[in-house]
Amino acid sequence: MASLDGQVALVTGGASGIGLAAARLLRGEGALVVVIDIAEEEGRRVAAELDGRFVGFDVAEPRGWEEAVSSIEEELGGLDVAFLNAGVTTGSNVLAEVTDSAYRRIMRANVDGVFLGARAVVPAMGRRGGGAIVATASIAGLVAYEPDPVYAMTKHAVVGLVRSLAPQLKRLGIRINAVCPGIVDTPLIGEEGRRLMEAASFPMIPPEKVAEVVLDCVVSQANGEAFVVQPGLGGLAYRFPGVPGPRGEGAGRKPPSGLAGG
Ligand SMILES: NC(=O)c1ccc[n+]([C@@H]2O[C@H](COP(=O)([O-])OP(=O)(O)OC[C@H]3O[C@@H](n4cnc5c(N)ncnc54)[C@H](O)[C@@H]3O)[C@@H](O)[C@H]2O)c1
Repeated sequence: MASLDGQVALVTGGASGIGLAAARLLRGEGALVVVIDIAEEEGRRVAAELDGRFVGFDVAEPRGWEEAVSSIEEELGGLDVAFLNAGVTTGSNVLAEVTDSAYRRIMRANVDGVFLGARAVVPAMGRRGGGAIVATASIAGLVAYEPDPVYAMTKHAVVGLVRSLAPQLKRLGIRINAVCPGIVDTPLIGEEGRRLMEAASFPMIPPEKVAEVVLDCVVSQANGEAFVVQPGLGGLAYRFPGVPGPRGEGAGRKPPSGLAGG
């Protein structure tokens, strides 16, 4: 029996690159796959290839999420796995070149899409008794990334959300993790990016290798982790260095639980 027999998995950005590879792998493990993408034609083609479903919407649209999750629950009986993966870059490291529309586009796909996706799938997974969420961040969510600082901002946001949500979701039987790949061989890097990588003889990660780490996140007990994926290195949980605590009077005390802000 495959590891995900009888489970329902949604994949955002499932029409291309990492999402496509993950959709194929999840299907290979027995899951019924729901492909979500703004690219209608490619998304439909992938869903047909996988005997799955396609729901076309922009992941930054709350309405799209509401409709998608309720149709999944009504027609497929529930939701077990969500791979929140759709994303874009600005393609620029010059702040003045990042127009308002380029800024909104990346924030919508990379940040709004992950927040809205998580907010929509958690109640459905709760009704199912648990589930697994995986979000695609990036190495650029862990380190400074000079080629695209706004992209780095969005991916740091994904890592922060995943790590901060993990403890409360665990109480609902839901695990959430992030995958943080280096440069992956997908259309996202563009022709120029590919040319530069080849000229530098720098290895790229096949999207299938990232998909394997996504599957590991789904089937393992990992929670609140950010898994680094590099060429030749699949899925190493990043160890965050500690942050200095308070000094002086009251330094040994614990902050009150339930504190917002900080
Ligand atoms: N390729 C890399 O080097 C690399 C490295 C690290 C992380 N990532 C991340 O991996 C994820 C997938 O990227 P990829 O490399 O497979 O790119 P890709 O361009 O091959 O695929 C991205 C898919 O997301 C879809 N999409 C984009 N915006 C959307 C939106 N608002 N609503 C719905 N669908 C949308 C696109 O139509 C496309 O099918 C992204 O979050 C990206 O930031 C990529």
